[in-house]
Amino acid sequence: MADTLTGSAPVPHFPMARAAGCPFDPPPRLRAQQDEGRFVRVELWDGSRPWLITRYADQRALLLDPRVSADIGTPGYPLQAPVSGRSNISFILMDDPEHARLRRMVTAPFAVKRVEELRPVVQGIVDDLIDDMLARSGPVDLVEAFALPMPSLVICRLLGVPYADHDFFQENSKVLIKRDAPVEDRTAAHGRLLAYLDDLVAEKTEKPGDDLLSGLVGRIGAGELTRGDAAEMGVLLLLAGHETTANMIALGTLALLEHPDQLARLRETDDPGLIASAVEELLRYLSIVHGGRRRAALEDIEIDGHLIKAGEGVIMPNDIANRDPEAFPDPDRLDVTRDARRHVAFGFGVHQCLGQPLARMELQVVYGTLYRRIPTLRLAANALELPFKHDGSVYGVYELPVTW
Ligand code: HEM
Repeated sequence: MADTLTGSAPVPHFPMARAAGCPFDPPPRLRAQQDEGRFVRVELWDGSRPWLITRYADQRALLLDPRVSADIGTPGYPLQAPVSGRSNISFILMDDPEHARLRRMVTAPFAVKRVEELRPVVQGIVDDLIDDMLARSGPVDLVEAFALPMPSLVICRLLGVPYADHDFFQENSKVLIKRDAPVEDRTAAHGRLLAYLDDLVAEKTEKPGDDLLSGLVGRIGAGELTRGDAAEMGVLLLLAGHETTANMIALGTLALLEHPDQLARLRETDDPGLIASAVEELLRYLSIVHGGRRRAALEDIEIDGHLIKAGEGVIMPNDIANRDPEAFPDPDRLDVTRDARRHVAFGFGVHQCLGQPLARMELQVVYGTLYRRIPTLRLAANALELPFKHDGSVYGVYELPVTW
């Protein structure tokens, strides 16, 4: 069995740095590792040495394997950063059958048919935000004026969270996913969000509405869910529902502005097929949830001649899997006409993104509207000097100054 700990090769650190000047590309070190095709060990902040898996086929095989655990309490789990004793974040960090039991309680509102019913609402939100932007004179920060409010308004409506509280939950979400923030700050942000969601669940117990949180109140009443678990699920959905899509809107717009030929194709079409294909390609090309899917082996697993032993961690960065030439020819080229639907930007296996139909629909509305309504949209800053989110679990830009 191959194990690169043999010999005197130094163990690389993870996360690895992106190359200056290539803000859309995975770290070059990951590419080198993929080219060599080996499993390597990497060293994390706590000195632990999980396996780094870079090839698309290997990642998909492992993410489908029931012998890997997403529970951060499993021995060998490769932690992204220190955690406090109380860290739950609901079913994304649980294994089946409990993961599946909880996930099933909230799948219905994210089903394709239900999401499609929301499309006109999302179109209205997008149009209103663009009207507001156009009423101002540039430059405008696209993150603050458009990318962040759009998915926040949508997930608030779906969950039954008052949008008026957006400053509060956006700020705390930002801290919670900031890998480099002190553990006390992340724990405090998590605690504030949990208390907030717990209050909302209590309010909806008194006065239920037609929203997802009120649906969870019904589950509490039926003895299927504790109030604490309902609040924790609310934190996961509120956080995942706005941060990710917001980054895809801002970073996707930057990528298109930096690839004017691709932007022109989008601007000049009203073909829903091409818009949908552009969404998949940008998801693949940008792979914003870039810290790697993380799991721990519950049993010995042999994969392609390599042995991962029980109790060892694995990290599977989807940014490099989505640039594997064996899965996507000429992978570093952004091509909105390619069929990129097999990408792993939403993960793979049982934890594959619950909100993907919603994210897809929101991005289709945005990419199909923004550049047609503001055809002269352009960057009002040097692209390479923008504040990129190298320090977060979700990649993107903190600000995107644009004008028109
Ligand atoms: C472009 C936007 C999005 C991207 C790139 C994205 C990406 C991901 C990824 C990579 C995972 C897998 C995590 C893992 O395997 O460890 C995931 C899971 C998840 N996502 Fe998303 N996501 C997006 C939007 C959303 C939205 C809008 C929601 C709505 C609430 C959402 C809710 C979730 C939930 C609940 C999970 C956990 C699923 C489970 O553990 O069973 N995501 N997402």
